[in-house]
Amino acid sequence: MTTLKPSALTILGLETSCDETAASVVRREADGTVTVLSSIIGTQFEQHAPFGGVVPEIAARAHVEAIDAIAAEAIRASGVSFDQLDGVAATAGPGLVGGVMVGLAFGKAVSLARGVPLVAVNHLEGHAVSARLGADIAYPFLLLLVSGGHCQLLEVSGVGACKRLGTTIDDAAGEAFDKIAKSLGLPYPGGPALEKLAVGGDATRYSLPRALLGRKDCDFSFSGLKTAAARIAETLTTDDERRDLAAGVQFAIARQLSERVDRAMKLYKEGHGADELRFVVAGGVAANGAVRAALLADCEKNGFSFAAPPLAYCTDNAAMIALAGAERLALGISDDLDAVARPRWPLDEAAALANPANAYGRKGAKA
Ligand code: KG4
Ligand code: ZN
Repeated sequence: MTTLKPSALTILGLETSCDETAASVVRREADGTVTVLSSIIGTQFEQHAPFGGVVPEIAARAHVEAIDAIAAEAIRASGVSFDQLDGVAATAGPGLVGGVMVGLAFGKAVSLARGVPLVAVNHLEGHAVSARLGADIAYPFLLLLVSGGHCQLLEVSGVGACKRLGTTIDDAAGEAFDKIAKSLGLPYPGGPALEKLAVGGDATRYSLPRALLGRKDCDFSFSGLKTAAARIAETLTTDDERRDLAAGVQFAIARQLSERVDRAMKLYKEGHGADELRFVVAGGVAANGAVRAALLADCEKNGFSFAAPPLAYCTDNAAMIALAGAERLALGISDDLDAVARPRWPLDEAAALANPANAYGRKGAKA
């Protein structure tokens, strides 16, 4: 740890935790104003598409091959040079560890070669700050982090200060979108493809199960929906039927997210005044129109403001990693060069350890 406190910070961010190799330069002024100077994202869709999902070994190799050029392009497009960087922030987990190691090692090399501090960023903390790339959102806020690997409700009270209110006990919402899309014969990544297919569909045509009806907490479950939808998908023969199933699935996912958010808002309200009722949704699934509409309705009902990252920063990107790094560096927090890549790294370690049933393990929350 160092105790560096410059007034304005220019940070190189690196993101390699899944199937996107991304680099970005972000400038954060002393007053918290943020400017994204560049954000370069190289996707690996084509390499993974034949397999219908991300293959970790292919991802790691593709990151190694892409990271030099992507980082160089982020620096070039930003108009600043390596010499003008105040720090480098790299995703250190959670994620596919082979890929995480690539970005983190690159970040360490930049730190060592340029003599600037390294920040080992939790990918989830990146998503947590991502809405702050587009608007000045004060802490604290209630966060729904909903992506391909994660589905969590968190009370975020400051940099790195998160309390988990709920998590998925099986699949993440994006994973459910992706797997159901696959059973409908749609290409990977399935979420956007399923949203497109669902346009104009009849969401009531097929009866789909609702999860955890007996519980009153903020946890999620999507595996029952996934299985039921896959069974129905096998029997479909027409495009109309597929469209209606897609609409039903999208409705079911949006409804579950919205119900848990409604509960979490009521819990959050117990500890926060009216001027702190802020809701933020982040992660790839935040790009879904039906999900956004359902969450907006929650906000209206409970008196919360609504914020979501600009669409470009909903899915994985390095600008959010750079900003998370800048916020830490501004507080004098950085990491040593022996920082490790972590496949699992809960944002709220206390909550995850207190409830190991859904904290670690292949079937647990992917955090
Ligand atoms: O945040 P992200 O890029 O990666 C993770 O950290 O997981 O999220 C990717 C996920 C994928 O599951 C993708 O299908 C989903 O977000 N997604 C969507 C939409 N756009 C991306 N799901 C539903 N509707 C969308 N429009
Ligand atoms: Zn992500």
